[in-house]
Amino acid sequence: MRYAVLGTGEVGRTLGGRLAELGHEVTLGSRSKDNPTALEWARGAGAGAQAGTFAEAASSAEVVVVAVGGRVALMALEAAGAENLDGKVVVDVSNPMAFEDGELRLSPVESDSVGEQIQRAFPRARVVKTLNTVNCKVMVDPSLVPGEHQIFVCGADASAKEQVSGLLGEFGWPPHRVLDLGGIRSARSVEMLLPLWLDLLRNLGHAEFNIEVRRGH
Ligand SMILES: NC(=O)c1ccc[n+]([C@@H]2O[C@H](COP(=O)([O-])OP(=O)(O)OC[C@H]3O[C@@H](n4cnc5c(N)ncnc54)[C@H](OP(=O)(O)O)[C@@H]3O)[C@@H](O)[C@H]2O)c1
Repeated sequence: MRYAVLGTGEVGRTLGGRLAELGHEVTLGSRSKDNPTALEWARGAGAGAQAGTFAEAASSAEVVVVAVGGRVALMALEAAGAENLDGKVVVDVSNPMAFEDGELRLSPVESDSVGEQIQRAFPRARVVKTLNTVNCKVMVDPSLVPGEHQIFVCGADASAKEQVSGLLGEFGWPPHRVLDLGGIRSARSVEMLLPLWLDLLRNLGHAEFNIEVRRGH
C-alpha cells in the first residue's frame, strides 16, 4: 500500500517508519521539499521511504495520514490538495491542542472536532479518526502496554474504518481491541480525552499507558 504521512514530527516519523518496516511505500510530507528532518528520515527508513511536499506525498498515496497539529491540519490538507484526497482514506491522528499561559487549550472542542472539520472541508475524503488517544510508540506497538486496552475509530465510512482496522491490525491491534465509536462526530469525544491523557502522563511519569474499557455484558 502507498501511504502519505503528513507531518515530520515524532508521530509522523514513528508511523512512517513502522509502515515502511511493514513493507509499505511511504512518503513523509512536509511544507517544503527539502525539509532536513524528512530527508534524514527517508535516508534511514529503507527503500520504500521518500520525503516530499504535502502535495507530492498525497498525490501518489492510496491512504493519507494526518500527523500534524490539529490546529494546522486543514492547512496541511489544503496544501496537499483536495484533488489528491478524493475518495481516499484520510487517517486523522491529530489533537487540537495548544498551551496558552501554561494551560492546555483545545480548539475546536465540545461542539466540533478536527475530524469533523476535515470531513466537512474535504467531503469526498473518507476520514477516520484514530490513534490520537495513545502515545506514538504505543500506536505502532500496543504490546508496550500489557492488557486488553483498546484503540478507538470514528468515521462515517464503514469500509474506510474496516481498512483502517486492517492497518491497526498490522500495528498489533487485534480486531476485538478496535472500538468503533460511530460517525465522525465521535471524534469530539476522543479529542476531548487529551486533558485526561496529559494528567495520566504527569502522574505516571511516562507515556506507555492506555485506557481499557471493561464491559459488564
Ligand atoms: N506525540 C504523540 O505521541 C502523539 C500522540 C497522539 C497524537 N498526537 C498528535 O499527533 C500530531 C503530530 O504531533 P507531532 O508532535 O509529531 O508533530 P507536530 O510538531 O505537532 O507537527 C509537526 C508537523 O506540523 C507541520 N506544521 C507546522 N505548522 C504548520 C502549518 N502552519 N501548516 C501546515 N503544517 C504545519 C510541520 O511541517 P514541516 O514539516 O514543514 O515543519 C510538521 O510536519 C499532533 O496533532 C499531536 O497532537 C501526538
